[in-house]
Amino acid sequence: MESIIQIEKLTKRFPVGTGEFTALKDINLAFGKGEFTGFVGPSGSGKTTLLNIIGSLDTPTEGEVTVLGHSIAHLTHRQSAKLRNQHLGFIFQTYNLFPVYTVYENVEFALLLQQMPAAERRKAVLDALEWVGLTDKAHSRPAQLSGGEGQRVAIARAMVKRPAIMLADEPTANLDSKNSHHILQTMAQLNKELKTTFLFATHDEKVMAYLRRIISLEDGRVVKDEAMTPQRQPGV
Ligand SMILES: Nc1ncnc2c1ncn2[C@@H]1O[C@H](COP(=O)(O)OP(=O)(O)O)[C@@H](O)[C@H]1O
Ligand SMILES: [Mg+2]
Repeated sequence: MESIIQIEKLTKRFPVGTGEFTALKDINLAFGKGEFTGFVGPSGSGKTTLLNIIGSLDTPTEGEVTVLGHSIAHLTHRQSAKLRNQHLGFIFQTYNLFPVYTVYENVEFALLLQQMPAAERRKAVLDALEWVGLTDKAHSRPAQLSGGEGQRVAIARAMVKRPAIMLADEPTANLDSKNSHHILQTMAQLNKELKTTFLFATHDEKVMAYLRRIISLEDGRVVKDEAMTPQRQPGV
């Protein structure tokens, strides 16, 4: 399968005090379209750093990271912003919704930077709300939602542009078990129907149960890369 993300000899060091801290060490990985994959490992193992570099929010110290044909180290700010805006979706532990905007407006906001005709934009927002089961909450504001619903709005906001790649950093960390499974079902369904590639950073076993590939990190190194038979499937 042709890969849409390639990582070769990636090392990431952060300056700390007068020295440096090596957060990622000699990572080599490739990802194909439609994967449902997680980076797992203890806190501090480098999961977020790796996801941020793939998402062009940070850059490699050494090595080459290519996302959809773009070399992350060589993008200008403008080019990396364009890559994120057009092709990448992000979900974080905290949903970061605009409190004064409605659910509909929070999702629509992601499209306002793009030159999209109003009717097309409206359809895209309504589709995204339907994917996450929040059509009837379109006019609610974030404070009126449960945590699970808030995260579903964040998924809709990230998915409304139909990105090729979704990056989800600890997306279930603030959710109870029922809501965690609900959003994982939603993401697994979107992966199946739209062929969106999902990459997770997580140490939540509930997330792992859905993954088809688990990459284990320890102290910034890949220590295991396994194909999985998911214990949970979309719709089950
Ligand atoms: N900007 C930074 N400056 C210095 N150290 C950092 C920075 N970002 C992350 N680190 C360090 O890199 C290591 C990996 O962090 P992170 O990728 O956040 O791990 P994880 O997401 O697996 O918990 C940690 O030891 C963290 O303290
Ligand atoms: Mg992290």
